[in-house]
Amino acid sequence: MTTGAVLLAGAVARLREAGIDDPARDARVLLGFALGVERSRLTLVMHDDVTPDQADAFERAIEARLKRQPVAQIVGQRAFYGRDFIVTPDVLDPRPDTELLVDLALSAPFETVFDLGTGSGCILLSLLAERSAAIGQGVDLSEKALDVARRNARKLGVQDRVTFYEGSWFAPLEATTRFDLIVSNPPYITQDEMAELSPEVRTWEPHMALTPGGDGLDAYRVITQAAPDHLAMDGRLLLEIGHLQGDAVSALCRSAGFSDVTVHQDLAGKDRVVAASGFQWA
Ligand SMILES: C[S@@+](CC[C@H](N)C(=O)[O-])C[C@H]1O[C@@H](n2cnc3c(N)ncnc32)[C@H](O)[C@@H]1O
Repeated sequence: MTTGAVLLAGAVARLREAGIDDPARDARVLLGFALGVERSRLTLVMHDDVTPDQADAFERAIEARLKRQPVAQIVGQRAFYGRDFIVTPDVLDPRPDTELLVDLALSAPFETVFDLGTGSGCILLSLLAERSAAIGQGVDLSEKALDVARRNARKLGVQDRVTFYEGSWFAPLEATTRFDLIVSNPPYITQDEMAELSPEVRTWEPHMALTPGGDGLDAYRVITQAAPDHLAMDGRLLLEIGHLQGDAVSALCRSAGFSDVTVHQDLAGKDRVVAASGFQWA
């Protein structure tokens, strides 16, 4: 028999030796996962003996982390905007930066919302959970990502107010469908930046969620051009961007006919969201 504390000490040393960024934090989260206890209770139970099953589960989790699998994928969930979302290797691990887009979306009323590249559904489902009268639609090219989004919709209890489509950007929509709000966090990493990503992201997150290739702007080109056809009068478009893409994406919004275009910064002071409204109807 051994205790959680003994296992933890050994695991931290192994993760540190492998060059993992924050070995103590990761090992604690994974121990809590293996023992089936909340992180806040870990200190209380850490000196108890662990069962063989718990020791095996912890060893499997540490081995996965040594292969650079992200912690959220190993434990199968990630907190986003105050709720836990199921995360698998088929979806982007929701990022804290994306919460800015949710904040901006909630800063004005909407009844209908469309989310392009919904992935885990973290943006769309957070919006529906926060606005109980709203209904939403989400699209993704990945069938497996949509399975995760549907599971998350049920987990949050908003499944009756959401519809998901498999397809590319606006293609699955009827030509006449319009929304008060269109949101997207599309793939935007440039081809060159892909080589600089950590192994956790490059190896374990879906390539299709990360980059459209080239200069990273292709999704914005399609979305900004087509969005006006699917926005209600006074509708808003909110796009998460890479921190160097503010000018380029703002220019795309203006050339698509939006007169009111603003770039918003995240908590680190980096450009993170472009908000576009005031579409000039011909
Ligand atoms: C950066 S991830 C965003 C996921 C989620 N919305 C979030 O914020 O965490 C981009 C998503 O766009 C999807 N995607 C990529 N190309 C697409 C396309 N042509 N049409 C629809 N979705 C696409 C990917 O599968 C992925 O789920």
